[in-house]
Amino acid sequence: MAEQPATLDVERVICRVSDLDETGARAFTLGTGHWPLTGFVVRMRDQIRAYVNRCPHARHPLNLLPHKFLTADGALILCNSHGALFEKETGYCVAGPCAGQSLKPLPITIDGGYVVLSDDPALYAEE
Ligand code: FES
Repeated sequence: MAEQPATLDVERVICRVSDLDETGARAFTLGTGHWPLTGFVVRMRDQIRAYVNRCPHARHPLNLLPHKFLTADGALILCNSHGALFEKETGYCVAGPCAGQSLKPLPITIDGGYVVLSDDPALYAEE
């Protein structure tokens, strides 16, 4: 069993790295109150990115089904509302109604096998 770091702030833990498929994605919610931070992480083998789960087009959540953020081939992030496509590495929209705009990135660190938000979730909740 992996040892949990002594300084891990459980209020900022998104998931375990091992919860993510090598090229998969996962939704998360952090924070409290009526408008917590809703986001998702996407893994590209040894790299992980996190974004606010809100499309720059109409501000809808990107997924309709739990943890379903990627195109069928897994190459891009797909907004299920109107089909915008985003790069996994940058969140940049390469096609769709918000082409040229970007998902809002979230700062994360990997700490003891956990993906952890680097800042207070309240800073990123429903802007
Ligand atoms: S809300 Fe995402 S493409 Fe329209």
